[in-house]
Amino acid sequence: MNRLKPVKARIQALKKQAHEVKTYTLTTENLPFSALPGQFNMVGFPGVGEAPISFSALVRENCFEHTIRSAGRVTAYLDGLKEGDELFIRGPYGKGWPLRQAEGKTVLLIAGGLGIAPLRPVIQGILEKRGLFDKVYLIYGAKNEKHMLFTDEFQTWEEEFPLFLALDEISNPDSGSPRMKVRDKRGWEYHIGLVTDMLDKVKIYPQRTIAFVCGPEIMMRFVCRGLLLMGIESSSLYVSLERRMKCGIAHCGHCQHYGLFVCKDGPVFSYKQVRGLPDGLL
Ligand SMILES: Cc1cc2nc3c(=O)[nH]c(=O)nc-3n(C[C@H](O)[C@H](O)[C@H](O)COP(=O)(O)OP(=O)(O)OC[C@H]3O[C@@H](n4cnc5c(N)ncnc54)[C@H](O)[C@@H]3O)c2cc1C
Ligand code: FES
Repeated sequence: MNRLKPVKARIQALKKQAHEVKTYTLTTENLPFSALPGQFNMVGFPGVGEAPISFSALVRENCFEHTIRSAGRVTAYLDGLKEGDELFIRGPYGKGWPLRQAEGKTVLLIAGGLGIAPLRPVIQGILEKRGLFDKVYLIYGAKNEKHMLFTDEFQTWEEEFPLFLALDEISNPDSGSPRMKVRDKRGWEYHIGLVTDMLDKVKIYPQRTIAFVCGPEIMMRFVCRGLLLMGIESSSLYVSLERRMKCGIAHCGHCQHYGLFVCKDGPVFSYKQVRGLPDGLL
């Protein structure tokens, strides 16, 4: 596959995940191609534009997935597409999560909002080879329960590792006194508060732990600080950065972050690499 050339991809299935968020199951003539968890495609349509979108599932049975929130020009166009329609992709680009490095270790997966999408291929990779990893924990926070993605997969995930869920707010607060926990109609219990509140739930040996963190930059900052306080080395913490992109291949400079090209050197970086850079929140 020529990774610079946009290729047509057909929408095999569309699934609404949450308000303005859909998962696109795609297929192309260029399959199979290999991608790593955490890598992204430039996704778009001629005349509309392109946006970097992470894989939310890698290639299996001639399909792969992207989970996209309608946020602006390109993604609003994609939001209007139907099953059977075509869009264009080029990629895969960037460096992904170091899953091989996580083998034999305790793995902390910490996601905020749409940040669960780039971590889903990690979860799927762990589920496929569960024996290769030590303890695994997922801490996942969203604005409210209506913004939680992949809820129909929680059961499968929880059979293999503990899942700690947090919400910033309750979507339908009743008139009672403020609560610290809420249960949805499927029975999932959510802590009301920040994902950082859940860090003390995990039992780890810091030297044998690796953490993959994905979400808004301010959330990643506080999570990483919490993990450092727990004794995990900054070189064992990984974050995925978002910057505005054009080329995706380190040519245009749009995504440059103090000498780093987020499109080529990232989007996944160790916290040690990006901590304290002047224009970032990390
Ligand atoms: C590596 C990577 C992976 C990503 N993965 C995903 C993913 O899996 N799913 C997903 O939904 N999104 C993902 N994104 C984010 C997505 O690429 C952006 O939301 C993208 O900008 C959407 O493009 P758009 O044309 O639809 O929106 P845009 O028109 O670019 O607008 C997006 C947002 O940016 C604001 N904006 C527009 N122009 C500017 C400007 N000049 N300066 C500041 N703000 C501006 C808009 O108001 C809007 O809120 C990822 C981004 C990166 C870098
Ligand atoms: S998007 Fe062009 S240099 Fe990264």
